[in-house]
Amino acid sequence: MTAQEIRHKNNNLLLDNEEEGKHKTTAMPAQQTLTMIAAAAKNNALGKDNDLIWHISEDLKRFKRLTSGHAIIMGRKTFESMPKALPNRTNIILTKKKDYQPEGALVVNTVEEALALVEEDAQPFIIGGGEIYRLFMETCDRIELTRVHHDFDADVFFPSIDTSKWAIVNQEDILANGDQPYNYSYLTYEKK
Ligand SMILES: NC(=O)c1ccc[n+]([C@@H]2O[C@H](COP(=O)([O-])OP(=O)(O)OC[C@H]3O[C@@H](n4cnc5c(N)ncnc54)[C@H](OP(=O)(O)O)[C@@H]3O)[C@@H](O)[C@H]2O)c1
Repeated sequence: MTAQEIRHKNNNLLLDNEEEGKHKTTAMPAQQTLTMIAAAAKNNALGKDNDLIWHISEDLKRFKRLTSGHAIIMGRKTFESMPKALPNRTNIILTKKKDYQPEGALVVNTVEEALALVEEDAQPFIIGGGEIYRLFMETCDRIELTRVHHDFDADVFFPSIDTSKWAIVNQEDILANGDQPYNYSYLTYEKK
């Protein structure tokens, strides 16, 4: 698949507007689980030329299922890698720019402002990219990582996960199939 075909297929699924989990956000959760969600290769590759590197439709459907109805926090570059804000989610963009006003998204200049905006969400998500995952590695409580068992050429990488601090609490292994040529695993990490 060419980079253009991968982008086209990924965008179709990311922007799919069919509603899911619309009422998940509730006022003042007793406990909040701040979750990073990412798909990273064996060599931690996340993206190249401000785009994703592969198309795994089942993973994107899972991303939509988990994040719909919640706040999603992302870096300005990840936001600009997508055609527009993701539907049925509160899109929050981190940037140091003071005059950034994209359509359909809230803009913050600091991590603290981002966290203040998601206070009432029981499970806000950090959706990337590399800089933003690094920023939230210490703060977040859970990582939903799709590990693609293949090395890719990339210019952005997921930070390494310190296994003395994080444990895998759930794992589902998926074999390569007609839809996509790579074995991958859904790994859920939680702080020890
Ligand atoms: N595989 C995956 O799961 C996945 C997920 C998401 C993204 N990606 C890929 O990751 C790549 C983009 O990642 P990236 O690391 O280049 O960029 P990024 O993390 O999406 O965004 C970086 C931007 O965030 C802002 N930022 C960073 N630290 C900040 C801070 N402390 N305070 C305020 N703003 C801050 C800055 O925006 P300003 O420059 O505007 O100040 C910075 O340029 C793309 O290739 C994308 O496709 C992959």
